[in-house]
Amino acid sequence: MKAIIYRQYGAAEVLQLADRPTPSPLANEVLIRVHAAEATKSDCELRSFHFPVQWFWLPLRLALGIRKPKRQILGGYFAGQITQVGAAVQNFAPGERVFGSSQLRFGAYGEYLCLPSDYTLATIPDGLSYAEAAAVPLGGLNALHFMDRAGIQAGEHVLINGAGGSIGTYAVQIAKQRGAQVTAVDSGTKAALLRGLGADRVIDYRQTDFRQSPASYDVILDMVASSPYGRTMRALRPKGRYLMANPTLLKMLQSVVTSIFSSQRALFAFAGETRAELHCLQQMLSTGELKAVVDRVYPMSEAVDAHRRVESEQRLGSVVIQIGTAES
Ligand SMILES: NC(=O)c1ccc[n+]([C@@H]2O[C@H](COP(=O)([O-])OP(=O)(O)OC[C@H]3O[C@@H](n4cnc5c(N)ncnc54)[C@H](OP(=O)(O)O)[C@@H]3O)[C@@H](O)[C@H]2O)c1
Repeated sequence: MKAIIYRQYGAAEVLQLADRPTPSPLANEVLIRVHAAEATKSDCELRSFHFPVQWFWLPLRLALGIRKPKRQILGGYFAGQITQVGAAVQNFAPGERVFGSSQLRFGAYGEYLCLPSDYTLATIPDGLSYAEAAAVPLGGLNALHFMDRAGIQAGEHVLINGAGGSIGTYAVQIAKQRGAQVTAVDSGTKAALLRGLGADRVIDYRQTDFRQSPASYDVILDMVASSPYGRTMRALRPKGRYLMANPTLLKMLQSVVTSIFSSQRALFAFAGETRAELHCLQQMLSTGELKAVVDRVYPMSEAVDAHRRVESEQRLGSVVIQIGTAES
């Protein structure tokens, strides 16, 4: 099979197209012909081994390969079609169109992927292309997880910092769908996109610091690792919740102190990316409550450009790589 591989950590140019053996499913696994995979910020961070939060470096390096990557095929979020199932698999059949997350197994930048049938997999709702379906799992699963942790009530004021990225674009939609007043913070080029997704107010962080308004928000979901902790907490109302997608070690310690000594709460959740959450997204996509946000689709041969586009932050939505030959 064809796969986009990386043999060493480094700039986008380390990605190359290569032939790899097609995997075979074990008894409890399904074999998926991948048609589309999202090129995520996390893929770029793992490829370059540069993280906005420094403490990620050591545990991830130990897990993923000290001198070079142990798993050469990146890609954690995908859409494709089941072509074969193992003897013990009951919940999927060949021909079904599925999307999901391969989590730390990665592998979605290759034409074929084997996953246990009880992994984070669900059928693609009718009417969604493979590219659209591949754009949902990373942002949708993480956004849903954070919004659930926040326990949003209708009428609450939710601010999403970094709202124009993969996670933020789904967080805006889910917060709106739960009846919140949503303020989206990102660079001004993303304002129209964010309003189109339902944001009530959009703040260009290069022009205005939302932290200048104290006690304004019930929930702040923050994708930006460099956010100042104390000033961000002051923008929260009493009993407000601050959720950090990219917590530094210091912020993790500060959040414990906050939770003990204040009515506010600060949480640094890592999304479990469960099947139940994916089924919830599947339902929301079916009813039109959630929309896939695709920026551009690149062929496998242009994977380097796809990663450059993600790193340039010029994109409006998810960058998707079409895996193999064209297929809707
Ligand atoms: N906790 C978890 O479980 C978890 C899971 C997945 C990912 N993550 C991490 O979460 C981070 C965000 O993920 P993502 O995929 O959504 O990233 P992303 O797509 O790159 O989105 C980040 C957004 O933030 C904007 N931004 C940058 N600086 C900002 C600032 N100072 N104020 C406001 N907005 C700013 C960026 O736009 P401009 O650059 O144009 O300004 C971009 O639109 C990644 O670093 C990823 O590794 C955490």
